[in-house]
Amino acid sequence: MQKLTLPLALLGWGIVWGLLRLVQPPIPGSVMTLYMAIAGVSILVYLMADESRFRAVQAPILALLTEDRLAVPRLIVLACVPLLVGWATFEKVRPTLEPPFEGRTIHPEPPSTFKFQGRDFDVLKTQNPLREHEAEAHFADNLEAGKRVYFENCMFCHGDHLTGKGHFAEAFNPLPTNFRDSGTLSQLEESYVFWRVATGGRGLPRGATPWNSAMPAWQDFLTEEEIWQVILYIYEASGSEPRTWGEHGGGGGH
Ligand code: HEC
Repeated sequence: MQKLTLPLALLGWGIVWGLLRLVQPPIPGSVMTLYMAIAGVSILVYLMADESRFRAVQAPILALLTEDRLAVPRLIVLACVPLLVGWATFEKVRPTLEPPFEGRTIHPEPPSTFKFQGRDFDVLKTQNPLREHEAEAHFADNLEAGKRVYFENCMFCHGDHLTGKGHFAEAFNPLPTNFRDSGTLSQLEESYVFWRVATGGRGLPRGATPWNSAMPAWQDFLTEEEIWQVILYIYEASGSEPRTWGEHGGGGGH
């Protein structure tokens, strides 16, 4: 049993890592590092709390460092230390060959209608009903409500500055859209955005593949009003102006 103390401690640490990796949505790297450090310290405290346990951990390490018969393994281990540090440094600084992420400039063709919570929604004709109140106090209320919806649901991916850098953003490919990019919201009609928010990645047409979008289908979680409110908010907060269908000759004339 004494012999197994060190391998068991390492195994325990590995199991904690494995379990944390199973958590969905994935835990961000920096939080992972923190948890693993806490797990490491806890295991160390456990090992050091008992004299004989601590000696059982020390013994194989001391033997490796001092005993003549272990000269070759010792050399290998000692050589690995600078190699590991070098590799970790290289991983951090090496230029990646992947192209930098660019905002999505080509938006898939929307369907003219889709099923929104069981009824037909006309993507080409519908306008944001909350804009009718633009001049009134209502508008500020709706904007405020939209802000709340955003920070409760969207911020984790699209970020608190709407730049697509939320806590979970790095876990997704494609990355969550940066709404401050002029290639996104300003290029889109609000009813198009409504369709994208309501149906998410699941609603993307075939032509949009190979997009494997993590964007949830919000019609399962939000009401129609909440979706219009959050749309008001993302336009306002990103400084974008919605496009109208008239501008490119499609569908609804206004
Ligand atoms: C789980 C992460 C995640 C959450 C949460 C999330 N999104 Fe997204 N969103 C994405 C990803 C990834 C994309 C990019 C791929 C795509 O267009 O489907 C995206 C794309 C979009 C687009 C399309 C933009 C364009 O230019 O085509 C809109 C609009 C959008 N999100 C709005 C929202 C709103 C509003 C919320 C909150 C109600 C939200 N998202 C919450 C991940 C997320």
